[in-house]
Formats: sequence, structure tokens, C-alpha cells
Amino acid sequence: MHDAEIIEAPPGGVSRRTFIKGVIAAGAAVSTSAYLFRGSQALAVPSAQGAVERLITLNVNGQQRRVDVLPHETLAMTLRYKLGLTGTKLGCDRAECGCCTVLVDGITRYSCSTLTHSVRGRAITTIEGLAPSDTQLHPVQQAVVDEGGFQCAFCAPGFIMSMVALTEANPSPTREEAAHALSGNLCRCGDYNKILNSAMRAAEYVRRRA
Ligand code: FES
Ligand code: FES
Repeated sequence: MHDAEIIEAPPGGVSRRTFIKGVIAAGAAVSTSAYLFRGSQALAVPSAQGAVERLITLNVNGQQRRVDVLPHETLAMTLRYKLGLTGTKLGCDRAECGCCTVLVDGITRYSCSTLTHSVRGRAITTIEGLAPSDTQLHPVQQAVVDEGGFQCAFCAPGFIMSMVALTEANPSPTREEAAHALSGNLCRCGDYNKILNSAMRAAEYVRRRA
């Protein structure tokens, strides 16, 4: 896929580890102009007759964000193309791949299949909201960096959000339980063994933090 091809050629002088760390922290590196254009087009599709945007307030990463939203607009579209939170990826856009996974009140949700209006008043967390500061990663993000758990990392934000939900609910999962918790996320590079290693290390770091 086009996005993956671009990811394989990071800018000169940037190590793979640094590049992946950037993706894991905010996911910005894989937002190509073509990718953004695709999303903008989707938002520009004529809506049902008479449908108009409504100004609503969303609680995103602990901040109150005011945004104009169409009745049929998905949370993924709002996050990426109106709030600029491009760490949340769009792959299948039909609840199959999990790369759009965010947390709503701490529970994983496919943002491509969630209407934005339905999450008013709920606590939405995206990959950008995980790190406690600019100089420190969330334990799950740090585990992924330390394990080098992804190849192109397009799927990483979704997997990381699922790992966060898993380790919050069960900080001592078996490998089998981790695999089950991550079964709603797909990786096109097929890097599942390393992803599971990351999940197990993430649980270890979360236990250490507690
Ligand atoms: S983009 Fe949402 S599940 Fe694939
Ligand atoms: S899709 Fe490339 S690492 Fe998962």
C-alpha cells in the first residue's frame, strides 16, 4: 500500500529506531499528503439532504475541544481531519483492521465505526494523549520502542491503544490472554510475534510503575 512504501524510506539521517519512536509517540510520520487528501475527500462527500454541521464539545486527551461535526461523521474523521490528531490511523475504514483504535472511557473502540456525536461527554483518548510529558513515553510506548515491535508501524497506534486497555484491565496477562486482547488489531507486516513480545514487556513496565 502507498503509505507503507513511504514509511520504508524515512528521511535521510534519521535512524529506524528514532523514526519508529516518532510514530509511536504521535503517529504523525505516516500522514502523507495523499492520505490526508483521501480523508478530506471523504468529509467532502455530500451528506444527506439538509444535514448540517453542529458545533459540539468533545473531551479528547483531557481537553475540551469545540468542533463542527456532521451527523454521519465518524470519530476517526473528526480526530484526524478536524482536530489534527493524525496519530489515529485509517486503514479499512470498516471495522476490520483496528488501526483506528482509540479509548472511550478506557474501553477500546474502532473510531472509524463510531459516530462522533455518540461520544459527546465521554473521555476519548488517542495515541497523542498517552505520554505523560514531552520527554517521557507511556510505559506501553516505551516497551514497544525497547522491543522494536513493529516493522512499518502503520498499525502501531491501534495496537498500542489496545495494549494500554489490556494492561490497565490485567497487568499480568499470559501471552495467550494478550493475544486474545489484541485479536481486534491486524498487522499487514505480520509481525505478531514481536508485537506480543512488546505486549508482555508493556505489562511488565506497567506493573513496575504501579
Ligand atoms: S480503520 Fe477502523 S477498523 Fe480498520
Ligand atoms: S502493518 Fe506494518 S508493522 Fe503492522
